[in-house]
Amino acid sequence: MENEQPKNLIALLVSSLNEEANDDQVLSGLTRAEIFDEVLMMIITGYETTSTALSWFIFFASKNPQIQQRMKEELREHHLLMIDNLKYVPPLTADNLTSLTYCECVTKEVLRLAPVFGLTSRIATYDTIVNDVKIHRGQTILIALHNINTDARFLGEDKNHHPLAMIPFGGGHRACIGQELAWLELKTIIVRMMQRDITFEDTPENVGGYNERITCFPKNVVVRVRFD
Ligand code: HEM
Ligand SMILES: *[C@@H]1O[C@H](CO)[C@@H](O)[C@H](O)[C@H]1NC(C)=O
Repeated sequence: MENEQPKNLIALLVSSLNEEANDDQVLSGLTRAEIFDEVLMMIITGYETTSTALSWFIFFASKNPQIQQRMKEELREHHLLMIDNLKYVPPLTADNLTSLTYCECVTKEVLRLAPVFGLTSRIATYDTIVNDVKIHRGQTILIALHNINTDARFLGEDKNHHPLAMIPFGGGHRACIGQELAWLELKTIIVRMMQRDITFEDTPENVGGYNERITCFPKNVVVRVRFD
């Protein structure tokens, strides 16, 4: 059928294949190489980012047992904690996730403090001056996302804070395309872990630090997983 819309992302990408496409003369469509890049990018960004954020959660959690307790208390209040003697883990619905305010705050705090992507960049499209600094057209500007997220000037501004005070996913029209998915995945996995009778415990070797490659992940995470 001629005007049937592609059903998924890959079908959409493949439908835009145009071997002749090039950015200068032939504007429409994507070449094979460009489609390959798009698919690879989706796989890498879709996998490594969320798993990195999760390692940061496990690291922070091990350093803050009282926060794990409080998450479990919230789950208990909502009858979502595992029922010990039956080893039954209650299912989670989207509604349940929304109602877990404290768990949501913890997930947000992980995104704020974990420097998954410590920085991003932009190329200036015109000459300008920002805070007395001259910026010339064509210059690459590095934006220190993690510094912004942890800037003490924004602390205590829980309500009505500046929209760009916390930007783990960047901002503007090139902001992270997967942020809603990442957010949902992260919160779901964190809550699913906390529903069970496990606690992440600190150890002497659990000294943290970080390694920065494509993403920035914790270097020495050595936790004990205790089954209560
Ligand atoms: C905790 C998880 C994640 C974090 C912290 C994160 C963070 C970011 C950041 C900071 C950028 C650059 C934004 C900018 O320059 O303004 C970005 C771009 C991007 N992200 Fe994510 N991301 C995450 C998960 C994901 C997931 C799950 C996907 C895909 C399913 C994804 C796909 C992308 C893509 C395709 C771009 C490039 C967008 C563009 O250049 O137009 N990300 N991400
Ligand atoms: C979880 O979600 C289901 C369906 O949306 C609902 O019936 C149930 O009451 C919710 N439980 C809690 C504790 O919010």
